[in-house]
Amino acid sequence: CMVRHYKFNVVLKNTTRLCSTKPIVTVNGRYPGPTLVAREDDTILVKVVNHVKYNLSIHWHGIRQIRTGWADGPAYITQCPIQPGQNYVYNFTLTGQRGTLWYHAHILWLRATVHGAIVILPKRDVPYPFPKPHKEEIVVLGEWWKSDVEAVINEALKSGLAPNVSDAHTINGHPGPVPGCPSKWYTLPVKPGKTYMLRIINAALNEELFFKIAGHQLTVVEVDATYVKPFKTDTIVIAPGQTTNVLVTTHRGGGKYMVAASPFMDAPIAIDNVTATATLHYSGSLTSAATTLTSTPPKNATSVATNFISSLRSLNSKQYPANVPLKIDHSLLFTVGLGINPCPTCVNGSRVVASINNVTFVMPKISLLQAHFFNISGVFTSDFPGNPPVSFNYTSTQVTNFATKQGTRLYRLAYNDTVQLVLQDTGMITPENHPLHLHGFNFFEVGRGLGNFNPKEDPKKFNLVDPVERNTIGVPSGGWTAIRFRADNPGVWFMHCHLEVHTTWGLKMAFVVDNGEGPNESLLPPPSDFPKC
Ligand code: C2O
Repeated sequence: CMVRHYKFNVVLKNTTRLCSTKPIVTVNGRYPGPTLVAREDDTILVKVVNHVKYNLSIHWHGIRQIRTGWADGPAYITQCPIQPGQNYVYNFTLTGQRGTLWYHAHILWLRATVHGAIVILPKRDVPYPFPKPHKEEIVVLGEWWKSDVEAVINEALKSGLAPNVSDAHTINGHPGPVPGCPSKWYTLPVKPGKTYMLRIINAALNEELFFKIAGHQLTVVEVDATYVKPFKTDTIVIAPGQTTNVLVTTHRGGGKYMVAASPFMDAPIAIDNVTATATLHYSGSLTSAATTLTSTPPKNATSVATNFISSLRSLNSKQYPANVPLKIDHSLLFTVGLGINPCPTCVNGSRVVASINNVTFVMPKISLLQAHFFNISGVFTSDFPGNPPVSFNYTSTQVTNFATKQGTRLYRLAYNDTVQLVLQDTGMITPENHPLHLHGFNFFEVGRGLGNFNPKEDPKKFNLVDPVERNTIGVPSGGWTAIRFRADNPGVWFMHCHLEVHTTWGLKMAFVVDNGEGPNESLLPPPSDFPKC
């Protein structure tokens, strides 16, 4: 294996989209940022230099960071931010993972434009478990605001109301053709009769997306850097934080075909309705040729999303077995959703908050990982509730226990404990699909359903053989999902909704995993250039 060095200069860059120009925070002046490429078992060193006025940190989303929590990145969870003018070298090894992941800023709303792909190739001479594609392409989906993104969330926090939605979605940084506005967009050149692999990443702040290509089927082969049993679909659904690899086989003809990323949102609230488009362009076809268009699912097409999600299964081959924990040490139920707390200075005298088990998470002033490692008291408590404070009953009408309690509370696990975690959407204010992301682990989704989780009946139907393995999972609107993982990674691991607005409102918590007794079962000490608060 190799050591690979990267340098990320985080700089402002004037960028024009939708006919208007603004400075955006970027890695090396690029939006999306440069791609990290490595092989399974390689070590990556990324020197991040902060040239902007904001505090900064970068998270390597989905990288397990075994014993190297200091390189995980979420600000005030595993590190103090890199202050303006400072730098920090993220140093980590890609243990037992291959596939598509991504990196993004993990402080404020900087990830809107500070993000890029991570491609982990299998070890040399280890083939993919599917025919080798002719070519691979990265497809990063995102959102674009005409106004300053930090201003959008700051205004919302002041008013207590929901923030403004984005003005467009993007595919590899571009919304697509914009009427009345000279615009470039992403074009994927293809040859007839070949197979391409698209590594699709949803880097949007706040929206789940449908993705499809006119006239072409997609064969799903991997999600969140784990192989799945291949299946064909014409539409994929992808939540913020998730990655999906698909194979596309081109036909014998030619032409131009629309690629579309459109919003999926089953809540009846305002969203950015604009579909981002790109073009699949067969070699030899004239640029002036008409593009074959595709329809996109309606934004509330829950059945399309449900069909896609229920088709996902781990590959579970001899080489890539699904090691689902069968014996469970901690059986937890977390309610996730929004709430309302009083706020005398806000527009309505109240503010929208979000919570897990009615706890609205409060960010500490130094990182939780430091507090844990150096035994600094008073930073967090280890009493996060394993069950909701009052037993939860979803009736599909608005519930009344809106109020939440604030706290920096963690749930403590011993090394190698196994966890079953049922995530139940509360549907407070409105039902909404929450993409929950767990740092430091992959987990298996062993079951999902609508309404209330039934602890007697539902576990009988769990899939403990080949459930999908991932790092970010959509908790269905007005329903639940059950995940299982093994706590074989000592440290402090953030779990939060990957809709950025919900994270900001407090839909987050963390697990603290103690060291094991074995020689390779303890958290390593922090590096010498570790940022100070
Ligand atoms: Cu991709 Cu904590 O996030």
